[in-house]
Amino acid sequence: SSGKKPLHFLHLDDFDKKTLVYLLKKAKEVKSIIKSGDKSFQPLKGKSMAMIFAKPSMRTRVSFETGYFLLGGHAIYLGPDNIQMGKREETRDISRVLSGYNDVIMARVFSHQDILDLAHYSSIPVINGLTDYNHPCQILADALTIIEHVGQIEDVKVVYVGDGNNIVHSWLRLAAVLPFQFTCACPQGFEPDPATVQIARKAGISKIEITNDPKEAVKGADVVYADVWASMGQKDEASIRKQKFQGFQINEALMKIAGPRAYFMHCLPAERGVEVTDAVIEASNSIVFPQAENRMHAQNAVILHVLGF
Ligand code: CP
Ligand code: NVA
Repeated sequence: SSGKKPLHFLHLDDFDKKTLVYLLKKAKEVKSIIKSGDKSFQPLKGKSMAMIFAKPSMRTRVSFETGYFLLGGHAIYLGPDNIQMGKREETRDISRVLSGYNDVIMARVFSHQDILDLAHYSSIPVINGLTDYNHPCQILADALTIIEHVGQIEDVKVVYVGDGNNIVHSWLRLAAVLPFQFTCACPQGFEPDPATVQIARKAGISKIEITNDPKEAVKGADVVYADVWASMGQKDEASIRKQKFQGFQINEALMKIAGPRAYFMHCLPAERGVEVTDAVIEASNSIVFPQAENRMHAQNAVILHVLGF
């Protein structure tokens, strides 16, 4: 290690506005190279990335692994049984060992402190692939998807309906850097972390609303956004949450209130018939699959940036 501090991607507001705008532009450029079928862009040739997963994943694993491969590099999947972070081995040891073999670490963990510890002890960039607290790669990809469909992210009204969870925290931290309107409609007792709401409000550039009224919230939305009601690590609460989240399902009636210009988004995986109906997810204004694809393109831009390209 050169002793120089690596560039991590742990929260959206780790980067300033100029950098986020640059990343979104870079994502679009690299996406068009990949979509053109041109295989000559191989900046990651000879490089490797260790991917730590303490939780299940489809999108995050496949988009990171494929993206890294398409850019010429090699990505290594380390599942929950391999690493057993903090159980088989301490996080600070894992971090320094992987730093000796690889160029990037990507990790999906439970406790947010685990990703902070990984980054603290790492001499190579660490990318956050979801924690109990946030999911910055997802919301960067979502911003890219909104730009492609609505034309811009600035001033767009995003209305999230459901649990005030990791996805909401990343929306709030994006709102601290880019100006848009973000509303979170959640049942009482399921509001996002107040300190994170404060970060978004204090930045003073975005309109932030936290409410318990989904019908009122979706009026005038450009995007209506859903996530599961019980996140990974909360699956034993699924049935109690189904009761508490009555009235927060995104169905055709709610989308009708939102109006004809509203797109539907969901980070996926979705529980059809629970937080969203089949009809809404399959409707022509649902952009969940372009949204999922953009994970790879947004992350490619992040990887290139943290590696200094
Ligand atoms: N949206 C998302 O992160 O999906 P996975 O859990 O499948 O990675
Ligand atoms: N809030 C969900 C997001 C999954 C991508 C979870 O943490 O399980």
